[in-house]
Amino acid sequence: MDEQTLKISKIKDGTVIDHIPPGKALRVLSILRIDDHVENSISIGIRVTSRRLGTKDVIKIENRDLEKFEVDKISLIAPDATISIVSNYEIIEKFPVELPQRILGIVKCSNANCITNMKEPVQGEFSLLSKKPLLIRCNFCERTMNEREITASLI
Ligand code: CTP
Ligand code: ZN
Repeated sequence: MDEQTLKISKIKDGTVIDHIPPGKALRVLSILRIDDHVENSISIGIRVTSRRLGTKDVIKIENRDLEKFEVDKISLIAPDATISIVSNYEIIEKFPVELPQRILGIVKCSNANCITNMKEPVQGEFSLLSKKPLLIRCNFCERTMNEREITASLI
């Protein structure tokens, strides 16, 4: 590595969220619960150069796994992201995030009159209509939401 190149260090144990669209890392980070009493080191690369993608964002979280619902949320912001699980510097598991066909409890319907937004709310449930462009439909009121609306409505 020459001195002109600043790379984000490899991690010993933890999770790497890679191939995030340029500029979206902070949005991805905001959906992960980062407890202030847990001392996970987190490295964030925004618009770093990538052989494959030109530029990309990357997040490395030490000593932390992701829950399924967190991976599902990430897929709604960064559908082409890759998750790598690192143990003792080695990648022990690597998988692409996958948009779920049924999206349960992680998005709030943007229709204020939807039954899921009433006083005694029902858990939101959406069906995936299209990946590109990203479109989901509420199973209760049939409201269709696009990427911008989904991003604004993640629970
Ligand atoms: N990584 C890390 N710490 C390790 C091992 C890997 O932070 N101990 C990171 C790498 O920096 C990379 C990601 O995990 O961001 C995936 O690693 P790897 O599969 O080795 O990278 P690439 O071959 O570049 O993957 P891809 O082709 O998916 O871009
Ligand atoms: Zn609805």
